[in-house]
Amino acid sequence: MTKDGALPKGFERPTVSASPNDSGVQEKSEEVKSSSKTITLRISKFNPEKDQRKAFHAFTVPYQRWTTVLDAILDVKSNQDHSIGVRYSCRQATCGSCGMIINGKPKLACFTKISELDSDVVTVEPMNNFPLIRDLAVGFERMFSTHKRMKPYIIREDSEISSGTKEFLQTPEDVEKYIQFSSCIKCGLCNSA
Ligand code: SF4
Ligand code: FES
Repeated sequence: MTKDGALPKGFERPTVSASPNDSGVQEKSEEVKSSSKTITLRISKFNPEKDQRKAFHAFTVPYQRWTTVLDAILDVKSNQDHSIGVRYSCRQATCGSCGMIINGKPKLACFTKISELDSDVVTVEPMNNFPLIRDLAVGFERMFSTHKRMKPYIIREDSEISSGTKEFLQTPEDVEKYIQFSSCIKCGLCNSA
């Protein structure tokens, strides 16, 4: 800052007009207006311990461009129906726990934006081919035990335990051969398709 309090050249703040007719203010109000859309979120509810049949409960939920289906479900859970059973953890398509059927297709709820579904009604159901725990949460035990039996991972003949080796080096060529098999997050969506 210079002695007279002015900012050095190139660091001047843009002039902001307080007038409601100012274009910056107009842009802001348009942004707010476009963020006030709502969808109807239909959530499949069924508790095998006490319900006779599955039922869809519909909720009106506000959303913005970046709102995911999981955000919308958690909004309903916080503000309208605390009893909804849903599993999630990372909220960034990494842990594989939020798979469900969204408008008829298996998808990760935390990785599916409502604005990309192009529908005013979003229907969420538990994944197919898995035992239902409650509402949107299914049991993964069978998939995990099958995975364990199949052993789809690399097992060295000379293990760290028997050889005492602390580090196993991998060449870029080796990694290239099996990197694709390490990308599975075990979400179960392929089993549900
Ligand atoms: S292979 Fe199946 S379980 Fe693994 S990430 Fe893909 S959809 Fe999910
Ligand atoms: S919450 Fe982890 S993958 Fe969706």
